[in-house]
Amino acid sequence: MADRYKIPRGTFDILPEESYKWQYVKNVFHQIAQAYNYREIVTPIFEVSQLFERTVGDSSDIVQKEMYKFQDKKGRTFALRPEGTASVVRSYVENNLHMNNYGDRLFYMGPMFRYDRPQKGRYRQFYQYGVEYFGSQNAYVDAEVIALAYQFLKTLGLNNFQLEINSIGCPNCSKDYDKALVDFFTPHLGELCQDCNNRIKKNPKRLLDCKIPTCKAIAANAPSMLDYLDEECQQDFDSLQKYLTDLEIPFTINPRIVRGLDYYRKTAFEFINNNLGAQNALCGGGRYDGLVKQLGGKDVPAIGFAGGFERLILSMENEGLSFGEIPKPKYFFVMLGNDAKEVGLPLLNKIRVQNIVADAAPDKASLKAQMKAANKSGAPFTLILGDEELKKNIIFLKDMETGDQKEIALDNILEQLDSIK
Ligand code: HAM
Repeated sequence: MADRYKIPRGTFDILPEESYKWQYVKNVFHQIAQAYNYREIVTPIFEVSQLFERTVGDSSDIVQKEMYKFQDKKGRTFALRPEGTASVVRSYVENNLHMNNYGDRLFYMGPMFRYDRPQKGRYRQFYQYGVEYFGSQNAYVDAEVIALAYQFLKTLGLNNFQLEINSIGCPNCSKDYDKALVDFFTPHLGELCQDCNNRIKKNPKRLLDCKIPTCKAIAANAPSMLDYLDEECQQDFDSLQKYLTDLEIPFTINPRIVRGLDYYRKTAFEFINNNLGAQNALCGGGRYDGLVKQLGGKDVPAIGFAGGFERLILSMENEGLSFGEIPKPKYFFVMLGNDAKEVGLPLLNKIRVQNIVADAAPDKASLKAQMKAANKSGAPFTLILGDEELKKNIIFLKDMETGDQKEIALDNILEQLDSIK
């Protein structure tokens, strides 16, 4: 018996009956990103692994346990990208992409890879959409980036989501805050999970977003970052709230958002859909002002976000939203006999090159079998060509809903089809 293979765990095929949904959400994201004047950037799906280790950070789950790392034939260590920001920053620096002196806006879409325990809304290969804005420290830009994400979700018709924002401060505020966290958590180390015990040395803020119930209960009483913001971070956070209010974008402040990646500072945000279960983040992002410099570029501040298409599509399905029209042919061409097939081939092609979707079942011979295929295709119209019609230089056009049939001349078939709505 021939070998049959199974898809790797945590991955999925996007099958033909689902792929139009993906096309739809991608198109809408494209449109929205372009309306905000973002330009697309495409980076490779693998990079040297150090790029992620240095930026996403070695206290993150991604670097600690989730990277798909491999060596190539020359012994170089690469990783399948677990996220897009590090690659975009790498490209921004490498290609000297300072396109404008008023801010550079980039967007991307593509597969990311994380070796995590698969569950609903969490996969090992997943598809992100995201944007990155380089060149402004202004909270105005934070509001713009959040507005773009909000507009995207709204344009898709989603209603069941909440925006949560936080400021995780800058290295200056973190000095005191990290110390306060260490002081707070140290007496509880015996009750905290192993991950939290490790994280307390590397990045104490990460203890705030541990999902383990005992850790969560302890973290609930931890000091809040918002009490430790320095003047500049506080002002930026106040401005962001004002701008979001001006934009009529509802939000709540959640001082527990720290984000799982090490490069963030100041603004952090997530769009949450509580109907999604444990994996409830539709998208998330924040500011990462030190990263461009850290990767060898100028000291360019930046902010962005990314989200997974899977959770988006799940949310749309939960809310019963439309993904546009289900693709189907407009015309199904029934050709009876060899002569009709010969004449029919260029004719069918003529229709198709006009960008009109048309199909046929060339391997089926009988009228019955071809009409069955026509029905299955969902085409609203069938074109029927047999020997009799060929002799008269006509073709039958059948309306599949009403059953009405009319003759049209073969010579100017395109013009006549054109007049059909
Ligand atoms: P992140 O929070 O790690 O941030 O991921 C962003 C989004 O990707 C999540 O909110 C979720 O929708 C989706 N996602 C993450 N992991 C999975 C998974 N295993 N399966 C399905 N969906 C997933 C980042 O990746 C940052 N690069 C975002 C960013 C851009 N920050 C600034 N700029």
